[in-house]
Amino acid sequence: MTDRLLHDPAVDPDRPADLLVTGIGQLCTVHREDHDDAGAGPRRRAALREIGAIAGAALAVRDGRVLAVGTEAEVGRWLARDGDLPRSTTVVDAGGRAVVPGWVDPHTHSVFGRTRQDEYERRARGETYLEIAAAGGGIRASVRDLRARDHDDLLELACERLGRLLDQGTTTVEIKSGYGLTLESELTMLRVAREAADLVGMRAVITCLAAHEIPDEYRDRREAYIDLVCEEILPRVVAEKLADRCDVFCEPSVYDLDESERILARARELGLRLTVHADELEPMGGAVLAARMGADSADHLIAIDEAGIAALAGSTTVATLLPATVFTLGLPAYAPARAMIDAGCAIALASDFNPGSSPIGSVPLVQSIACSQMKLVPAEALTATTLNAAWALGVAGEAGSLAPGKAADFLILAGDDYRLVPYHGGTAMVDEVYRAGCRVR
Ligand code: NIG
Ligand code: FE
Repeated sequence: MTDRLLHDPAVDPDRPADLLVTGIGQLCTVHREDHDDAGAGPRRRAALREIGAIAGAALAVRDGRVLAVGTEAEVGRWLARDGDLPRSTTVVDAGGRAVVPGWVDPHTHSVFGRTRQDEYERRARGETYLEIAAAGGGIRASVRDLRARDHDDLLELACERLGRLLDQGTTTVEIKSGYGLTLESELTMLRVAREAADLVGMRAVITCLAAHEIPDEYRDRREAYIDLVCEEILPRVVAEKLADRCDVFCEPSVYDLDESERILARARELGLRLTVHADELEPMGGAVLAARMGADSADHLIAIDEAGIAALAGSTTVATLLPATVFTLGLPAYAPARAMIDAGCAIALASDFNPGSSPIGSVPLVQSIACSQMKLVPAEALTATTLNAAWALGVAGEAGSLAPGKAADFLILAGDDYRLVPYHGGTAMVDEVYRAGCRVR
């Protein structure tokens, strides 16, 4: 607990707050003043549990940004330095409820066509994800479906789906392409991702995942598809500023290490930041590759080995874990989260929202699975879905904690304790969602 008032030093003292949230039973800022300056990097080890909780707190907002946080008395006194609080300030009484930063979901495939509950049933009947993929289902089934749809159809679906993520408190989201796998359809997916996020009002980081699979028409000449990705798709994506990052599905049955490195190196040369689907189903050294290439994050890591853990622990690459995927696929083991935290890896959590391996776009449920199955404590799960997730996306200067000067993206929970979110296992525990200081849900 802290009792220090934190306020934006750049503040103009003559202008009042736009919004003041009072009566906050527990304000989790996920911020520590001496810890989270720009160079600090993502939280590791014990620092993962430091959620900056303030009891009896208030939060002031101006121009969509956090103006001040502290106890109600401190913030009230500071705001009313020259007399009463001005009438132009909207006051919201949280009535003792808890407030946390809006969720940051750093790995989703939110643009897709049809859902794949047929495969869900096939897995329930005993087939595996890889068997279904090898039989032409999986990602390739979504690719065939998506290619037959136009921009407007995809945009409508994406808006509806992102809206449901926002309902559950996700205010920042990463969105990947990867169900097009042709130049035009990948560009369409990336445009749809950006437009949908803007329409719904979410902050988005867009990632080109043209290397999500080898498309059907290139199965017997994969080299030619990798040429297409490196020499046509990525350069166009960069020229049209359609993505912030590049991702590769680095997996023995998809892209091997050399192929992944070639694509990532080309993307880096073109100025994109990197992330990798690494060591998801079979260990292959994807985490080591991600760390060596300076990727923002290595994601999945269910099958990570000792060398992978050591490489991530010694790097700034965030280990983004996706337990809803393990849960959905019914896999025998989760990523070794505790061993990774002990070794010093910076952990984030994401939903992996997609039509196949994780139709779950709920960060609250992800927190819940992480706590009950991977033995994260709720404070670690909170940091992993806020500040560290923002680091995993390169947006920690803007999002992920309620530090003065950052965006006022926050949630008023349906209770007085942040632990109620994972505890209730995905039951709606988010009452109100604010994005840049405006109530959006
Ligand atoms: O992250 N691993 C690759 N991509 C997704 C699955 C996508 C799909 O099945 O459509 C994942 O699990
Ligand atoms: Fe994924």
